[in-house]
Amino acid sequence: MLVCKRFHSHVSRELRGFVSELVSTVTLQDADAAMDGALARMTGRIGVTLDSGLYGFPHYADPDTGVWTTTADGFWTGGFWVGQLWLTAYLLNDRRHADGAAAWCRRLAPRVDSRSVFRSFLFYYGAASGALLHDDAAARRLAIAAGRSVAADFDDQLGVIPLGAQAEEARSVGPSESNVDGLSACPLILWAARETGAADLAEIGALHALRSAALFVREDHSVIQSASLDPADGSPLRHYTHKGHSDSSTWARAQAWAMLFFTQAYRYSGDPALCDVAERVSDWWVAHAPAGEAAYWDFDAPRTAETRRDTSGTAIAAVALFKLAAATPDRGKAALYHRAARDTTLALALRHVTPVAQDDRRPPGVLADGCFDPREGTAVANELIWGSYFMLEALAIATGRLGPLTV
Ligand code: GLY
Repeated sequence: MLVCKRFHSHVSRELRGFVSELVSTVTLQDADAAMDGALARMTGRIGVTLDSGLYGFPHYADPDTGVWTTTADGFWTGGFWVGQLWLTAYLLNDRRHADGAAAWCRRLAPRVDSRSVFRSFLFYYGAASGALLHDDAAARRLAIAAGRSVAADFDDQLGVIPLGAQAEEARSVGPSESNVDGLSACPLILWAARETGAADLAEIGALHALRSAALFVREDHSVIQSASLDPADGSPLRHYTHKGHSDSSTWARAQAWAMLFFTQAYRYSGDPALCDVAERVSDWWVAHAPAGEAAYWDFDAPRTAETRRDTSGTAIAAVALFKLAAATPDRGKAALYHRAARDTTLALALRHVTPVAQDDRRPPGVLADGCFDPREGTAVANELIWGSYFMLEALAIATGRLGPLTV
């Protein structure tokens, strides 16, 4: 019980409320060992997947068998596979994973000009992270080309980069739609601005972030996923959700993406208005997320024994909180965010990363219980490639192997 007293005697009541009995009864040494073990199992699983000779990009996996459903072109998710390889190569200082990352990264090239704002996910995690972690010149060139291409989609009338005709959600909506998932454009464009010194990229990245804050962050600092915009002047015609429970609910990944990408936008732009919005959406998460467990897939989904949790959204939130703790100038809040991030990572490691155990036949190192798309009934209790990426990043940061703002 060493931990609890040492961890929590000096922190705020709000933070103490976030820490569960589960997490607070784990000793410091046990917590470190649990996270080290989860990290080792996850990198082991990534190695197994690399060696399995998959043709397509892993998208989601059956948690019982570990068998991946793949996509031919990477959809919006394939960059997280490449990002796992870049990050594993960094953590293990290992050529095999670095070569694998470089090879899979090249396969993203045909997507540079895809008509979808979600190609930003592909190229920040699949290519920019190769530049950030390994100084890989080819990955850097590809990521900058993608950043320029995404920025060129900025629509002056709308004031944002719209979803684009080939976006996952755009099949069901028109050309003047935006959603908070599209904030993924900001880290890619703002990173490319930093790399190249291009002022137009810096301006577009900041405009997209600030307009998204006005469109998707509600007065109580919860996040609504989507908006239809008036093509004449970009004013919102309606707010709604593509993947959440309802148009007035808070879908966990909408909140988590907002936390992560406003933090990244602040970290690359230095704009205090973006720090403010990153803190507000993060404070909302810390105040509402269940202590010591993965969040439910939607904060307002009716609760039954069958209600799914979403480990992927929770892992995104953990990474966002680690980054915000490192980026915010408010050192008091930084301690709160860091503690919440670490406790969340530990809870996921203890409860949801599959173990090596004789009585558990699941492959070890799977982040189970991700919930992709309950409205479509797709992959509602699975390993999700982006969930595993963010869990790997969270564990790497929590165990001191990766700086919180390295990626
Ligand atoms: N479209 C991003 C997500 O489903 O989280």
